[in-house]
Amino acid sequence: MINKWYGDGKECGRVYNSDGIVIDVFNSLLYLRVNPSNNLNEVYDNFGLKEWRGNVFGVEGVKNREGKESYQMFKGNEGEMICEENGINYNLRFGDGFSTGLFLDTSNLRKYVGGLEGRTLNLFSHANAISIASSSSRGGVNVDLSSKYFDLGVKDDWKNIEDDVWEYCKRKKGKEIFEVVVCDPPSSSVGKKRRWSTIKDYPELITHLSPLTSSNGLLILCSNTKKQTYDEFYKQCKKGLEISGRKGEVEKVIGTEWGWWREGVKCLVWRLD
Ligand SMILES: C[S@@+](CC[C@H](N)C(=O)[O-])C[C@H]1O[C@@H](n2cnc3c(N)ncnc32)[C@H](O)[C@@H]1O
Repeated sequence: MINKWYGDGKECGRVYNSDGIVIDVFNSLLYLRVNPSNNLNEVYDNFGLKEWRGNVFGVEGVKNREGKESYQMFKGNEGEMICEENGINYNLRFGDGFSTGLFLDTSNLRKYVGGLEGRTLNLFSHANAISIASSSSRGGVNVDLSSKYFDLGVKDDWKNIEDDVWEYCKRKKGKEIFEVVVCDPPSSSVGKKRRWSTIKDYPELITHLSPLTSSNGLLILCSNTKKQTYDEFYKQCKKGLEISGRKGEVEKVIGTEWGWWREGVKCLVWRLD
C-alpha cells in the first residue's frame, strides 16, 4: 500500500496524517510517528509497512501503568542524508533526537519564502530550513535557543545566533532591521527567563518582533497549535500589532495540504506600514 502511494523514491513528503498516525517519506526512508492510542504492530500491518522498500524509522508513543504518555524512538538507523523538497536540497539527520531537521508540515511556508527578497530574520530557526529555502540575496540571521541542528543548515551570508528569541529581539530593538521576519515558534517553551505559550503570549511576542520589521516589510507569523482557529490567531496578531503601534494587512495565508485543523500549522503573512 505504502509503496503504491510513494513509488518514485526521489523527494520527501507527508503521505499520511490521521488518527494519531503521521507518515513522512524522505527518499527511501519512511519516518513514522504513532501516538499512544495506536498499536505499532497494527499500524505496520494496516499500512503494509513490512513491504516498504527502504528503512522504517520513527517515534512511538507509549503509556505507562499510570497512563502517563511518553515517546520513544524505534529502529534508529543513525545518519545524515540529503533530501530534496521543492527543488531545494536539505541536510537531514536521523536517529539523533526526534527531529529530522525538516518539518514537512511547513513545506508551503518554505515554498513561499523561496520567492522573497530582502534581508531576513528567521526566528526559532531549528535546522535553518527557512533560510536554506530563502532566495534572499541579502542573507539574514537565524536565531534558536539551541545550536544542536545549526550544522545542518549552513548558508553563506547567514549568521547563526544561539539565543532566546525574546532576549535577542529586546537586545536588537533600534539596532537591527529586517525586510522579512519569519516567526515559526513551538506552541510553548521554557526560554532563558520565562515559560511562555503562543496561546497566551503571542501578542506580547509580536511587540518584540515588530520593531525589527522594516517599514513596508513582511512579518510572517506562524502558529502550531490545533487549539485555535485561523480567526482566533488573526485576532491575536491584530492585538499584538495594535499594542506595538504598527498597522498591517494580511498579504497571504499559508496552510498545509492536509488542512490546518489536522496539522495545526497556520501562517499569516503581514505587510506592515
Ligand atoms: C518547531 S521548531 C521550529 C521549526 C523551524 N521554524 C523550521 O522551520 O524548521 C521549534 C524550535 O524553537 C526553538 N525554541 C524554543 N523556545 C525558544 C526560545 N525561547 N528562543 C529561541 N528558540 C526557541 C527550539 O530549540 C526549536 O528548535
